[in-house]
Amino acid sequence: MGNPDGIFVSVEGIDGSGKTTQVKKIYQYLSERGYKIKITQEPTREKLGLLLREYLRNEKSDPHVDALLFAADRLEHYHNEIKPALQEGYIVVTDRYAISSYVYQSSQGVPVEWIQEVNKMSPMPDLGFYLSIDVETALERLSRENRNVIEKFENRQHLEYIKMKYESFLGPKFVEVDGNRELDVITEDLSNLIIAEYNKSD
Ligand code: ADP
Ligand code: TYD
Repeated sequence: MGNPDGIFVSVEGIDGSGKTTQVKKIYQYLSERGYKIKITQEPTREKLGLLLREYLRNEKSDPHVDALLFAADRLEHYHNEIKPALQEGYIVVTDRYAISSYVYQSSQGVPVEWIQEVNKMSPMPDLGFYLSIDVETALERLSRENRNVIEKFENRQHLEYIKMKYESFLGPKFVEVDGNRELDVITEDLSNLIIAEYNKSD
């Protein structure tokens, strides 16, 4: 199941790696250069995304149920937002997608094959980025922000594990980008990789 016309890109990484910041900066960089770009995120701010955020407030939530909720939110996200934009020729960049489920839910004991199975109806991105960063730096950034996070997923040991899991999924369509660098340097790097992928798909 492929993606129509435009190109579909995901940005992944541990919490605090700079995904949200980079997705916004990529939007600015590419739209200033005349590209049609839409940015989006998971969990979504739609009904299912809001529901799962509420459900995950309970740290004892069943990780299998978590996986199903993330998968349901993703399927709606793909059909309602991502696919229509791709059909209109947009570059669509999402802050997190299926690899987040492979990594986070499997880290809680859910078999990765089952996670892949329940996500099968949501097509994978043409290109995925893994923004790599030291866990120490991530925690330092997050504490500086004092932000409201899903605590179930944010402690040093867990982030180290998540980082290792992410690295196990690297490959030609899921590439590592060094997130420890200056903001603008990373944005230029990511944007140029997206442009190269876009030109390839012409
Ligand atoms: P994520 O979406 O991956 O959780 P954010 O984009 O929210 O990460 O970034 C977390 C914090 O780190 C923010 O305060 C952001 O300004 C800061 N930050 C992000 N990228 C960098 C960077 N390359 N250098 C320094 N600070 C950064
Ligand atoms: P996050 O990117 O922090 O979203 P926001 O900043 O809007 O709250 O994502 C929230 C958490 O959800 C994060 O710790 C990772 C987790 N998550 C999963 O466990 N599985 C998934 O499939 C997704 C998309 C996110």
